[in-house]
Amino acid sequence: ASSNITIITGIGQLVTNCVEPLNANAPMTPVGQLGVIEQAAVVVRGEIIEWVGRERDLPTEYRYSCRHHAVTEFGNGTRERTEATEADTINEASKRTTAEPRRIDLAGRALLPGFVDSHSHLVFGGDRGDEFEARMGGQQYDGGGILRTVHATRAASEDMLADRALALLREARAQGTTTMEIKSGYGLDVPNEAKLLRVAARFTPEITFLGGHAVPEEYRPAQAGHDARSGSSAPHLGDRDDYVRLVCGPMLDAVVREGNARWSDVFCEPHSPYAFDGDETRTMLTAARQRGLGIRVHGAQLGPGPGARIACELGAASVDHCTFLTDDDLDALAATWLGKQPGAWCETSAEASPEASAATSPETQSAASALERQYGTVATYLPAVEFSTKQPYPDMRRAIAAGVPIAIASDCNPGTCFSDSIPFAIAIAVREMGLTIAQAVWAATAGGALALRRSDIGVIRAGAKAYFALVDAPSYAHIAYRPGVPITHALDLGGHDQPP
Ligand code: NIG
Ligand code: FE
Repeated sequence: ASSNITIITGIGQLVTNCVEPLNANAPMTPVGQLGVIEQAAVVVRGEIIEWVGRERDLPTEYRYSCRHHAVTEFGNGTRERTEATEADTINEASKRTTAEPRRIDLAGRALLPGFVDSHSHLVFGGDRGDEFEARMGGQQYDGGGILRTVHATRAASEDMLADRALALLREARAQGTTTMEIKSGYGLDVPNEAKLLRVAARFTPEITFLGGHAVPEEYRPAQAGHDARSGSSAPHLGDRDDYVRLVCGPMLDAVVREGNARWSDVFCEPHSPYAFDGDETRTMLTAARQRGLGIRVHGAQLGPGPGARIACELGAASVDHCTFLTDDDLDALAATWLGKQPGAWCETSAEASPEASAATSPETQSAASALERQYGTVATYLPAVEFSTKQPYPDMRRAIAAGVPIAIASDCNPGTCFSDSIPFAIAIAVREMGLTIAQAVWAATAGGALALRRSDIGVIRAGAKAYFALVDAPSYAHIAYRPGVPITHALDLGGHDQPP
């Protein structure tokens, strides 16, 4: 039946992140090469892209009268704008169902793969606007505020947390994000970490267990049991080694039993007394890896540290923050990609499906190791964190020069960055971190997909997911050129499993 076919025409500029021809075997482009096609068209069946190319090459079966011209002209200065943006109009048109294919004419706008936000902490309770205000006055971030959020998050019900996360997901989607990784890490005991992962599972398959986010109050030195910052007094249960044992034992058991998490992560930061050193990080991540979870690492956020090298050593998908990476770190990251260059990046996604649960079945284990053979470790930068903590902006050109694939993500969380806006992160990366606009757009789409070891997102080619970001402008450059202006939105084709 043709009822679930959508034909998108009038695409003034299409970012594909792939090398032509754009069939199912099209390899991903290297960083900064966007595989742009002008005057393009895309055909979608269900939620999968069926055909991509120049509009003049559209196969004859898809050429037919346009029933639903959502927008007929771009840049008509005389047309009155009401509250509904043009993207709203287009999304409205895309929801109509008819026996005929749906037709959406973008009238010269730019279309790109939906943003892949590979790092967020979206499930939390409470608010820490006071800390942001203090930082703007010169206070330094040291990780201690995490315990305030833990206190508020433990007190919140699953439904309350889900309502809040959903509101943030809608916010992100309204700015072009179509895939979002979500971490736990504000529970820090067995029932609460499991609770956060269940909430995340309502919204995304990209779920990360972050039991190693901070040492909770119950395991901190006795006098800190009355931590003024968290506002609670907790019973003393042991020291930090006991907490690491809890994470590797009963907590990981519960996480694996419930099967929601695909990844495990640790805040590796010797510069924070609340976070974990290299040995503790290695212990927790090795335990998670043995149970079939993929690995991610928070590294080099507050100063140089062992996080990136541990990430490389354990075959992590990504090291995130990267504010203080050394040249040696960059060389180690680059080495993880040797023999795994672009052609290989798109080959075997079908057999290594991300929907595979984190159970310890042999299939899952082999899927994880197949991905480890295919992918190295991405350097994921979080530009809005430096904005919000007043840390120095790292120069991302160093990673590119070293040959390390880069990603840009939001890190949306109540402490170091309460923004889920990828366009904002792109604008900072371009203005402050040395990237060209093309490199930043690639990092937020293709780079995010690499960081999640996914070949079905972050690219526009046959066989990929039909997740798109629509820019209400003639080129992708406007994402950075018009900072703070809401011109980028997810294109809603309906009926898919990504953030509602
Ligand atoms: O990615 N650095 C560790 N975790 C978060 C911040 C968490 C918080 O302060 O609540 C981050 O920046
Ligand atoms: Fe984070």
